[in-house]
Amino acid sequence: MDELVALCKRRGFIFQSSEIYGGLQGMYDFGPLGVELKNNLKASWWESMIYENDNIEGLDSAILTNPLVLKYSGHEDTFSDPMVDCKSCNLRFRVDQVPDSCKKEDLTEPRQFNLMFKTNVGPLEDGESFAYLRPETAQQIFTNFKNVIDSTSKSLPFGIAQIGKAFRNEITPRNFIFRVREFEQMELEYFVMPGMDDKSHDSWVQKRLDWWVAQGVPMDSIELYDVPKNELAHYSKKTIDIMYKFPHGLEELEGIANRTDFDLGSHSKKQEELNIKSNVAANKDSNSKLAVQDEEGNWVVPFVIEPSAGVERGFLAILNEAYNVENLDDGNSRVVLKLKPHLAPVKVAVIPLKKNNEDIVNLANEVKVKIQSLGLGRIIFENTGNIGKSYRKHDEIGTPMCITVDFESLENKTVTIRDRDSMAQSRIDISEIPSFVESKIKS
Ligand code: GAP
Repeated sequence: MDELVALCKRRGFIFQSSEIYGGLQGMYDFGPLGVELKNNLKASWWESMIYENDNIEGLDSAILTNPLVLKYSGHEDTFSDPMVDCKSCNLRFRVDQVPDSCKKEDLTEPRQFNLMFKTNVGPLEDGESFAYLRPETAQQIFTNFKNVIDSTSKSLPFGIAQIGKAFRNEITPRNFIFRVREFEQMELEYFVMPGMDDKSHDSWVQKRLDWWVAQGVPMDSIELYDVPKNELAHYSKKTIDIMYKFPHGLEELEGIANRTDFDLGSHSKKQEELNIKSNVAANKDSNSKLAVQDEEGNWVVPFVIEPSAGVERGFLAILNEAYNVENLDDGNSRVVLKLKPHLAPVKVAVIPLKKNNEDIVNLANEVKVKIQSLGLGRIIFENTGNIGKSYRKHDEIGTPMCITVDFESLENKTVTIRDRDSMAQSRIDISEIPSFVESKIKS
């Protein structure tokens, strides 16, 4: 973990937030390379969910949430962790995260601590005009259920997917970006007919595993955890967690829950007219029935399968898998990030061999512009004049290819392409670069 943290800071992936004022615990900022990798990861998820499935639609809902949403979702009552104070060090911990240095006799009895952040809305600070910062992106998917159906004419089974910030006032944020107070979730709520939920759940577990493997997280670093009944969230009938071997231990990367008809049922008016299977609190405030009608005209509240992944945890797992230190034949070593090309923050670095040779520099610039126009992501023109140093840097940030423009390029319009993983170099025609680069990045 220390090596990853150091690399992230050194190369501009991740910085401590508000660092110049001593930081803010549980908050991180993504730097120039971090934002690229994060965007690429989110784009890959979006593509696999929405573009590859005609029955899944996207959503981008507000973060500040009407408290009634989180009252009826059950979060006001249940979204809490048990916390203890240590009378010796005067610090507060989640019960399962008390450090060994605190003696048992110094700890207070556990108390429940609600993890939701509140903020004032409007100019009055009367304690009444407040909103919650959403603790999961899911709830506004449920509250928009009817809007999406009415505007897209979807019928079951169908899904609504969203990527966005979520906030939790974690008692003990820790392990770099693994447990933070502000993070992003990639969540799908997939609505199915009751009775079809178990099969759909199994199939989503498999689809999500396949997706993580395609992002460079191999199956031998993953374990599935069938969450025992006494650990299930209040809405869940069954949850399978995808556990990843993080540098600090085996922990949850993504949860895939069967949320039954709890959420749509909870947020509905006239619940007695609906055949709700789960145990929901009476709703006096909703103005909508979040249900569909079957062929006989009966109201049915769909069951929901929810794959919910954390962007930061995905980022950390991907970085951890990609990070390699290799010993070279010349006795030196190199750090190389073997990221999948579609995730790499920089796709190609174009390097003129001679920094001050106008013809070489101009041709290298032309090559850069040509590759950039392919729309594959960030292409960098790297005019340091030190080719060895440029290769080392691009190995370390995971750039799949470096293209060098040299004197021969001026004569015969060819360039050298160096492959990040094998370090092999080959010469190709400038005219062949677009197809070569495209096939490599999309592979
Ligand atoms: N809507 C379901 C839900 O929110 P969750 O298991 O509480 O379920 C889903 O969270 C995912 O969000 C987790 O698998 C994890 O990847 C990520 N996550 C949750 N809390 C987090 C935190 N404090 N810091 C970073 N990621 C977090």
